[in-house]
Amino acid sequence: MSVDTGTGLPRTAETIPLRRALPGFLRDPLGGFEEIGRRANGGVVRVNLGAIRPYLVTRPEHVQHVMQDHAANYVREGWLWKPLSRLIGEPSGSDPLWWVKRETFQTVVSGPSVAAFADDMAEAIVRAVGEMAERAEGGRPVDAMDEMARIIYRAITRIFIGDKITIAQADRLGAALRAASAALRPRLALPFVPDSVPLPGDRAFRRAVQAVDGIVFPIVEEAVRRGADGDDIVSMLIRARDPDGNGFDLRQLRDGVVSLFVAGTETTTIALTFLWQVLAERPEVAERLYEEVDRVVGDGPPRGVHLPRLRYAKMAAQEMLRVFPPGWMLPRFVREDDVIGGVRIEGGGIVVVSPYLTHRLPDVWEDPGVFDPERFLPGRERHRFAYVTFGGGPHGCVGKHFFTVETQFVIAAVLSRFRVRPVGSPDPRPALGLTLRPRERLRITLHPRGR
Ligand code: HEM
Repeated sequence: MSVDTGTGLPRTAETIPLRRALPGFLRDPLGGFEEIGRRANGGVVRVNLGAIRPYLVTRPEHVQHVMQDHAANYVREGWLWKPLSRLIGEPSGSDPLWWVKRETFQTVVSGPSVAAFADDMAEAIVRAVGEMAERAEGGRPVDAMDEMARIIYRAITRIFIGDKITIAQADRLGAALRAASAALRPRLALPFVPDSVPLPGDRAFRRAVQAVDGIVFPIVEEAVRRGADGDDIVSMLIRARDPDGNGFDLRQLRDGVVSLFVAGTETTTIALTFLWQVLAERPEVAERLYEEVDRVVGDGPPRGVHLPRLRYAKMAAQEMLRVFPPGWMLPRFVREDDVIGGVRIEGGGIVVVSPYLTHRLPDVWEDPGVFDPERFLPGRERHRFAYVTFGGGPHGCVGKHFFTVETQFVIAAVLSRFRVRPVGSPDPRPALGLTLRPRERLRITLHPRGR
């Protein structure tokens, strides 16, 4: 129980004993997690997972405390980050070169650059949608997640790696990164198991990392040899220097490329897969999208010039990420004792920020269970940390504008040509994993629009 001392001193966090209080948790982790959110009711609580007892933080002002105002005390180490670091390198930001890397990412994927390469991205997406259409010809069902992954890899590869990678290599890189992140799941689920104890998935993970290295190392080595001449991420990382003039070595270059791919692909692929499910369940939202795409793009291909007028598509994407934030929990290691919302936080513990629960707080979001893109009409006020799909503070996502543009193009490229229908009636509830993802594999059919 939480103890109010009545003395103005910080309280001890109420601990929610997972196994005893929520026997259904193992059967239905999402339902169990939502129940924890209801019991916490916006307060800072501890969840007793046995070996670890993370603090759960959901209120926007508390999220701001962790992610921004006291970010140096809440670092990306330990749970989740340690296993991930074996794929992407050091994510904590304690390395000064991280900030150089982040700035380089930002330059490549931020607003002004996106404007410069929007037409190339649109063209790549239109071509990839054409390839999906061939596979889906005659009403043949295709796997939405696989198809969205292919489209995303086509959309980003040239921009991230320029002409230093072939399409075939990009497809192999995508497959290897997906295999690596799938193989990490057991370790992420059992964070207290030391590395020395083998777990299922370890061997597959090593194989996948070898495959990633076999593609990425030769690309960066060749780029270093030839000279960094392009505007792609490899060239820009090679040219980048910290204030003391230090650059990246080959391993850091490899980590930079891989971390941008990991950050920019799985989340986006999942989000786009949710999209088709959401549109099947909300025909009224789908109809407004068709209307907008027809009005703005017509039956020609989408281009950068269309983006400012694909407004409803942007709002629908934002609302989809409110309801289904792929990063449903963002863990942080607590360096030193602190107090959040009157509750004592022990140094050495773990704080979990949960966008999924923050986006469902009834006093922050009106009717949070209702899917309503109009919440994102310009001018609607809300706390800066009420919407944390993209995190925030010094480690906030650098790719949110990039994601929005990709999604606007995918919506326009698909809906201008097809009606999309899911096969069967997939379970609309998402499932918890490393990311929040559709519970069942979603298969879709494409039906040419007779306009
Ligand atoms: C649905 C799409 C996306 C979602 C939901 C998402 C979400 C996030 C979140 C929550 C964080 C912060 C993690 C934390 O604080 O622990 C983050 C960081 C990051 N994101 Fe995204 N992201 C998306 C798309 C992208 C794209 C398309 C790119 C690249 C083009 C990208 C690049 C990054 C990078 C590089 C970071 C690390 C920033 C840092 O640590 O300084 N993301 N993203």
